[in-house]
Amino acid sequence: MTEKLRVGVLASGGGTNLQAIIDASEAGEISAEVVVVISDCDDAHALVRAAKFRIANFCYQPKEFETRDDLNHQIRETLDVHNVGLVVMAGYMRLLGREVLSAYENRVLNIHPALLPSFPGAHGVRDALDYGVKVAGLTVHFASEEFDEGPVIFQEAVPVYDDDTEETLHNRIHELEYRLYPLAVKYYALGRLKVEGRKVRIQGDWDRKTVVK
Ligand code: GRF
Repeated sequence: MTEKLRVGVLASGGGTNLQAIIDASEAGEISAEVVVVISDCDDAHALVRAAKFRIANFCYQPKEFETRDDLNHQIRETLDVHNVGLVVMAGYMRLLGREVLSAYENRVLNIHPALLPSFPGAHGVRDALDYGVKVAGLTVHFASEEFDEGPVIFQEAVPVYDDDTEETLHNRIHELEYRLYPLAVKYYALGRLKVEGRKVRIQGDWDRKTVVK
C-alpha cells in the first residue's frame, strides 16, 4: 500500500473545511491524512475538531512571539516535525511567511470564498454582496506571500439572490468548498496538479461533474 499524503492544516476558526478533509480521508476518498492542525486562536473550534480525531494540534498566538518571523519559524518546525507533505490553509486568517512558503514551495493550498482576483481579504463574501454581484463563488489556489494570490487550482461560481445575507451566501459557498477542497487535496496526493508559472494544469481527465453537482 502506498503511504498516505501527510497533511498539516492551518485554521483560525470553525474548521468546517478541516472537517470536510478529515471526513474524506476517514472515508478513504482521498489518499491523505491530517496529521497536525495549527491555529492562531486558542478558541478556534478547528482545534476541538482535531482533538476529537486525535490529531496533534497546536495554538501559536502571534502575541507569544517577538516577531512574525519567530512565529513562522515555529510553524515550520511543527510542520517539519510531523513530516507534512502538504500544508492546507483552511480559514487561516494570517499570511504565511517566506520561511514556510519556501520550505513548502508549491505545497501550500489556500481557499477563498470569492472568485479571485475579485474580493480578496478577510471579508470576501460581504464585499461581493455589498458590491452587488450576481455571481459569487470560491477559489482554491496555491498560496503565495500575498493575501489570496497564487496559481488557481479550482474556481466555481454560485448565484447570488436578492434576499441573500452574508450568512446565506457564505453557506452556499461553503457547500461547494466541502467538495472542492478535499478534491484539491486528492488531486495533489495523486500528483495531478502541475504548476507552470501562474497556471495549474490538472493532469488527466477532469470531469467537472464530479466537482459540481
Ligand atoms: C471558508 O469560507 C474559507 O473559504 C475562508 O474561511 C472560511 C473558513 O471556514 N478562507 P471554516 O473555518 O473552514 O469553517
